[in-house]
Amino acid sequence: MRLSERSGTIEQSHIRSMTRACNALGGINMAQGVCDLDVPREVIEGAYAAMNEGINIYTPTEGLPRLRNAISMKMKRFYDVEIVPEQVLVSDGATGAFYTACMALLNPGDEVILFEPYYGYHRSTLTSLGAIPTYVRLEAPEWKLDMGALEAVISSKTSAMVICNPANPSGKVYTREELEMIGAFAEKHDLIVFADEMYEHFLYGDAVHITALDIPSLKDRCVVLSGFSKVFSITGWRLGYAIAPVSVIEAMAQLNDLIYVCAPAPLQIGATVGLEELGDSYYSELARIHEHKRDLFCGALHDAGLIPSIPGGAYYVMTDVSTVAGSDDFAKAMEILERTGVASVPGRAFYHDDAGKNMVRFCYSKPLDVLEEAAERIRKLR
Ligand SMILES: Cc1ncc(COP(=O)(O)O)c(C=O)c1O
Repeated sequence: MRLSERSGTIEQSHIRSMTRACNALGGINMAQGVCDLDVPREVIEGAYAAMNEGINIYTPTEGLPRLRNAISMKMKRFYDVEIVPEQVLVSDGATGAFYTACMALLNPGDEVILFEPYYGYHRSTLTSLGAIPTYVRLEAPEWKLDMGALEAVISSKTSAMVICNPANPSGKVYTREELEMIGAFAEKHDLIVFADEMYEHFLYGDAVHITALDIPSLKDRCVVLSGFSKVFSITGWRLGYAIAPVSVIEAMAQLNDLIYVCAPAPLQIGATVGLEELGDSYYSELARIHEHKRDLFCGALHDAGLIPSIPGGAYYVMTDVSTVAGSDDFAKAMEILERTGVASVPGRAFYHDDAGKNMVRFCYSKPLDVLEEAAERIRKLR
């Protein structure tokens, strides 16, 4: 059968091909971003009780009112940001929320600025819809914002930009000053800002999460995306959300209905109970555990003679692998896999050109014993 033009726009995931190579070798897969901590009991039991109580049919496409309310309360609780539940759309993961937002807000041919290194789904979502990504590079190890470079990519077709905060894959956490500069820039050029805040609770050292909704110049022009996959370790439940002005949520809801109908009903209750019942210590412990893992694995990378960019948030580390044998990032990632049995993602997955050819990304959200073994093996690269 003849495939559509759209079906050819999505690049084969480098993460999946490394995962396959890793499985063939029986290695440790640090390519894939799966948070494999236990799911909080409250979340499991909330979903189980909901199933038993008959919450198994379609929900409103925007999400159950109790969950939309819990999300708006969460924004108040963590960030002192006031939103109304009508500003929330629950979707099938942050992935579904982003897709729906792009469908509602972008036209084919619109240019959308991505910071490099980017999260591959952002780029693929845009290209699958006929939008055109343009790129502004942030340089390792500091990933500093370059406003001159941002101004340089603006054209009459630029309609939006994407920020990932904390960022996958760089671990960059945007400061308030940086977000204010982005806000002023977005205002000047009348841009929509998609703010993917999936890793909002994964913060290390003195990093603080500032949501785009807390920046006055961004408040009415941003779509904040987040979800429960990582914070409750339920990547397979497919539950995420968008927060945007009510008129945008109304447009998104129609598309969400068309594509997903609604997010899984009893699982929405599980996430609601998690938001309602888990105390602050749950979130601080989550950050503490991941900070320990970050330090453990970055230490091993140093010992191996590699140069990691120490992440301030999220749970990935980009590492310079210039010293590893191999002609490019893919060859180097394979060399690391073959010598240590540890899989990473070749840097090209995060750049539109060959800027990632001396980089790989490791995901350190692994059970501690597995991570300790991986660290031990990586040290042997020296
Ligand atoms: C930056 C970012 N956004 C979104 C997602 C996907 O979220 P969800 O599982 O809610 O679709 C991921 C998963 O790796 C991610 O890294």
